[in-house]
Amino acid sequence: MVDVLLGLQWGDEGKGKIVDYLAANYDIIARFQGGPNAGHTLYINDEKVVLHTIPSGVFQPGCKNLIGNGVVIDPVTLKKEIAEIVKRQPDVLSRLYISQRAHIITPTHKALDAASEAAKGKDKIGSTLKGIGPTYMDKTGRNGLRVGDLLDEKSFEEKYNKLKEKHAQLLGQYDYEVDITEWEKDFLDAVAYMRELNVINAEYWLDEQLKTGQKILAEGAQGSMLDIDFGTYPFVTSSNTIAAGVSNGLGVSPKMVGEVYGITKAYCTRVGSGPFPTELHDETGDALRKAGNEFGATTGRPRRCGWIDLVALRYSVMLSGVTQLIVTKTDILDSFSPLKAATSYIVDGEETDQMPYDLCTTEVQPVYREFEGWDKPINECATYEETPESFKQYCDFLEQYLGTKLSYISNGVGRDQLLKK
Ligand code: GDP
Ligand code: IMO
Ligand code: MG
Repeated sequence: MVDVLLGLQWGDEGKGKIVDYLAANYDIIARFQGGPNAGHTLYINDEKVVLHTIPSGVFQPGCKNLIGNGVVIDPVTLKKEIAEIVKRQPDVLSRLYISQRAHIITPTHKALDAASEAAKGKDKIGSTLKGIGPTYMDKTGRNGLRVGDLLDEKSFEEKYNKLKEKHAQLLGQYDYEVDITEWEKDFLDAVAYMRELNVINAEYWLDEQLKTGQKILAEGAQGSMLDIDFGTYPFVTSSNTIAAGVSNGLGVSPKMVGEVYGITKAYCTRVGSGPFPTELHDETGDALRKAGNEFGATTGRPRRCGWIDLVALRYSVMLSGVTQLIVTKTDILDSFSPLKAATSYIVDGEETDQMPYDLCTTEVQPVYREFEGWDKPINECATYEETPESFKQYCDFLEQYLGTKLSYISNGVGRDQLLKK
């Protein structure tokens, strides 16, 4: 079976930490979408590591790691990431597999991302500027470069130059000039490096692994509210981040999907532009950012902070058929009382518990339920039983409102700072 772990909010829910922990129970961790816009933080022997393209199973001995066809890869980021990991895990390359069908981010994709954002002005998406949107556009527009195309040097050069020319025309229309000489040099070096990696026919490989009883965990990137179809469009990323993305992002049948772990922070954050109904523009929002150290793992940008939004969460749970919930950063709420959770929205004077079609043009007023805070630091609790009564009430309410079992509660950055409920 293929189990799935994905974010239920706007990303940065703590996926990296939890995948690193769960990977002990799996043979393979597979990324199925997104690219270096992701920043998944792990603490290995108290040292912080941020992964962008490589699955978060690399630090579990023996665990194989697959970058699936649905991922978009920047060869330069990948090469740098491997160099960092090798220092700690010298055998990483023998456990890393890359689908030949994954698409490649070129320097001009990054330039186009920047040009498009500059042209949007105040309406910009707040993209990570990693070239994600333009690369997926070339994929669906049937112009993309795939990992398999890198292998034959001569035909690669032809395909790359053709794409670069097309991008030069587009950049001309944007009236956007950028010198990519340095980027291109690094890119071509990294492309040569990628030719030495385990590039495989991943769908057949996964099929073999499944037939021999190997356990696979698909690791999501971004979050459900950034999904290209169901997120807060157009302020979204360019891939399907919900569970449906696993099947076409890895080439496994939907029938093979087993558990779907949905992960949420105990509050809510968003980085980049776009609607965020429970955002706090006051000192409580600032205090959450400070306590939670809410700064982007990829871009370093301050994250916008607010209360947990159960309307959005229930929508995400529904879309992916979440079977088990994981709540992270519960320790951050220690110093907040009362706590709030949005349980419905007021839209045009009417109360609703459904996500409106377009949050950008619909004004919504969250309706909050309040909870008493707790007086014992959650990271001092070694088991769920040891947690204060008011904390248990908060967890019970999440379970009941979302209609899903709460399996794990994260109470710190470390791999083992996790309570089983
Ligand atoms: P991801 O993109 O979903 O993997 O999440 P990020 O790594 O971007 O952001 C999550 C941040 O929260 C990281 O800095 C983690 O180290 C941190 N984190 C994860 N779980 C917990 C937790 O339970 N408590 C605290 N205090 N920090 C956590
Ligand atoms: P992880 O996997 C949080 C956001 C960007 C921007 C929008 C589009 O670490 O949770 P893009 O670069 O994809 O064109 O940006 O999506 N975004 C993320 N926000 N966590 C992420 O990944 C994100 N990846 C993209 O900030 O608003
Ligand atoms: Mg992140």
